[in-house]
Amino acid sequence: MAFPPGFLDELRSRISLSGLIGRSVKLVRRSREYAGLCPFHHEKTPSFYVVEDKAFFHCFGCGAHGDAIGFVMRHDNLDFIEAIEKLAGEAGLAVPRPTPQERERAQQQKTLLGALEAAAAFYEARLGSPAGARARSYLDERGLDTETIRRFRLGWAPDDRQALRRSLSGDFPESLLIEAGLLRRPSSVAAGEPIDYFRSRIMFPIGDKTGRVIAFGGRMIGDGQPKYLNSPESAVFEKGHVLYGWAAARAGLSREAPSAGPGLIVAEGYMDVIALHRAGYRTAVAPLGTALTDFQLHDLWRLGPEPILCFDGDEPGQQAAARVLRRALPLLRPGCSLRFATLPSGEDPDSIIRTSGRAGLDQILAAARPLADMLWESEVRGTPRDTPERLAGIQNRLLEHVRAISDPMVRSEFTILFRQRCDPWQARRKSLRKSPSSTAVHDGPPPPPRQPQHLQREILFRILLHFPGLIVEVAEEFASLDLPEADFVQLRHEILALQALRPGLDAGTLQQHLVQSGFAATVDALLSPSVDTGFVVRCPDPASARKEWTHVIRMLGGRERSVMAEAGNVLESEVSAEKWERFQAAREQALKQGLIASEDHI
Ligand code: UTP
Ligand code: MN
Repeated sequence: MAFPPGFLDELRSRISLSGLIGRSVKLVRRSREYAGLCPFHHEKTPSFYVVEDKAFFHCFGCGAHGDAIGFVMRHDNLDFIEAIEKLAGEAGLAVPRPTPQERERAQQQKTLLGALEAAAAFYEARLGSPAGARARSYLDERGLDTETIRRFRLGWAPDDRQALRRSLSGDFPESLLIEAGLLRRPSSVAAGEPIDYFRSRIMFPIGDKTGRVIAFGGRMIGDGQPKYLNSPESAVFEKGHVLYGWAAARAGLSREAPSAGPGLIVAEGYMDVIALHRAGYRTAVAPLGTALTDFQLHDLWRLGPEPILCFDGDEPGQQAAARVLRRALPLLRPGCSLRFATLPSGEDPDSIIRTSGRAGLDQILAAARPLADMLWESEVRGTPRDTPERLAGIQNRLLEHVRAISDPMVRSEFTILFRQRCDPWQARRKSLRKSPSSTAVHDGPPPPPRQPQHLQREILFRILLHFPGLIVEVAEEFASLDLPEADFVQLRHEILALQALRPGLDAGTLQQHLVQSGFAATVDALLSPSVDTGFVVRCPDPASARKEWTHVIRMLGGRERSVMAEAGNVLESEVSAEKWERFQAAREQALKQGLIASEDHI
């Protein structure tokens, strides 16, 4: 609903956010903010902040974020309008009346929910009636007791095309029942009477976050296609935004001591969630037969920092795990990740609980692996690492995944971890190179000859290692420098990444970090006092080092030369008018600046 301009601002300005939140969260003042334990996830140390003068709250643990309205919506489980009504009442503001269209839409959503609720009650009653006997014995065979059936409000849709229609059409217009996905037009006769959407199926009501029924999944008894039929999407049901069992899991989490249980568990199906609850895991949810969406991932992290995802150990199951993993990378935040439990091939949590009880599943959940391990293994497992190209290929792919992580702190931790794990291979490769029995396959490429340009490039690195304060200033030249030495390329990458992550590093810290991240040999060689003894004399301070930098860059030809070289390469592989022009332009530019002589060729 649209409010007149200024209304929401007026409302927010009349509310003290710390006062509002302080009623339910113990807040401690920390300079300009307040901190407290987040009410939206379990934590022992405060990562929940209220910034009064900017009028928002933020939790660094679970990412919960919003203003006063958002807080009331989440905390009191209200929708937007309800939250505004509550706040306006407290602030002594009158809520503007909605337009007729808005009122109609809100009304319609209310009636949709009303119809869905009535349908749930209808299916529940049918399950308890004589007509539901077969369904009851099926559920009994699957180990569900009446208490569980009641808690999840399972039901039975009779084998009758008109059963639900007859029961509800007195109270709700048929168009609404069709929109709710409870009735449908028969496909054969375009203008025929509407018929029940679900027939002869065990009904699993799907709830929204507050537990209101918004859709159904219906399972056939026995084999038959489709095994599960789900409600079509509607104004109140968007498949990718819903997790089955959310409300129950949320209640379960608030009962569970944060460190006691395994935390949030994500299974694949309705029956898994129910079996898990029945076995005492009251914190299980499942998507509705589709891969997890970004939206669902965010919702999971609202309930717990490291949900455990259960996947079948067979090939399709592991591929599904890899897909979720990739999807999660950009969304990772400090403290928020996923863990992966691998089930024996062909099993799901429900079947494990039935065959080996809670103890069996406990074991599998305890063995759940961190996302970083899964990622590592997905690239390394079964891939030979016997040549430099293959080694580089693996590292390249790992780095590509790491680049997808958008949080800089998490990204840097992944980079460091993977580099450390690659180190033993590199050590092995070096020893192979030295050992007389090594084969050609294991030998690295011969080291590039030490030409004057190589020495000049060494000086550039030496300048930055001694005076990291210059990095920002020369970053662009540095980044576009041609570096034939592979170790220099990696070192440059690390230096630039560090500079971006932790600007203002001093020389000692920079060098120490590089040594620890696997560049010990390169850095030691660069800083060895026996090399380029004149350096310290020429560059005693940042200003002289800056001059030296410019001087060396000019001698190396710097950027223009590398642009031209690149244009030349492209030209060589494929000549086109456009490329020829690029080449000429680069050449002219370099000539003008005196970087090359006219007879110089590339
Ligand atoms: P599964 O085929 O693994 O079924 O589908 P299940 O959950 O183990 O159910 P049981 O144990 O055979 O009774 C997993 C989920 O995929 C969706 C459902 O959400 C199901 O719970 N699904 C599956 C469908 O939506 N339609 C289908 O035809 C099959
Ligand atoms: Mn199953």
